[in-house]
Amino acid sequence: MPSQRLQRIHQLKKSQLPRHVAIIMDGNGRWATERGLPRYEGHRAGMKAVREAVEGAIQAGIEFLTLFAFSQENWRRPSREIAFLMSLLERYAQSECQDLVDNGVQVHVIGDLERLESRGRKAIDTITTATREGQRLLLILAISYGARDELVRVARRLAERVNAGELKPGQIDETLFASELYTRSWPDPDLLVRTSGEYRISNFMLWQLAYTELFTTPVLWPDFTREHLFEAVLEYQKRDRRFGRVSS
Ligand code: IPE
Ligand code: IPE
Ligand code: MG
Repeated sequence: MPSQRLQRIHQLKKSQLPRHVAIIMDGNGRWATERGLPRYEGHRAGMKAVREAVEGAIQAGIEFLTLFAFSQENWRRPSREIAFLMSLLERYAQSECQDLVDNGVQVHVIGDLERLESRGRKAIDTITTATREGQRLLLILAISYGARDELVRVARRLAERVNAGELKPGQIDETLFASELYTRSWPDPDLLVRTSGEYRISNFMLWQLAYTELFTTPVLWPDFTREHLFEAVLEYQKRDRRFGRVSS
């Protein structure tokens, strides 16, 4: 395996790396069910894959990595599963914090964090504060995130600014709109990876994905390794990103 690992990473063209990779980490439940285990065991096993994705992104030289960890729709799951996922988040913030700092990772969290309990919010505060000097990889965790909600918040915020006389409706353009998104400071994802063989967006970054290259793999999230990330990037490098033009 290590020799294959060397091969794939060396096939990557450094000049054509995606700056921003986003991943919809899906398939934990099915991974567990296949093994006759309760769903939460799949979530637990998925933590290893998070580490793989972060380390793989650093190794490849990716600047921004967004991980979709918990959607607004996921609040509709059984309360025990939600509680387990939230405790995993707290554990992640504790157990990975020093490694993330040592690896130069800067953590940001996007989503409707008011829905989290105070322990979860505190864990997020701790990890974002501790990692704020990181310079190698910006890791964005989407937690309690829903793209439609994000867009509604932008609309509300712009309406308030118009109401306050700060802004005229005619001044609202794509740049101003994007400046109110959670992602205002970062480039849009170049590549979106979804695991577990699903072909849908599930309310993830509807604005930001306008011209993102999509890659889906049947691999279930707990089985995802840096090799799969490199495979996705290799596939990305074969794509012709035209952005509506005739040729790149
Ligand atoms: C992804 O795995 C983790 C979250 C959405 C929180 P799932 O829990 O969705 O696993 P499947 O899709 O049921 O297999
Ligand atoms: C998407 O996975 C959300 C995350 C990975 C956090 P889901 O498992 O919630 O998506 P659906 O329900 O299959 O669309
Ligand atoms: Mg799922």
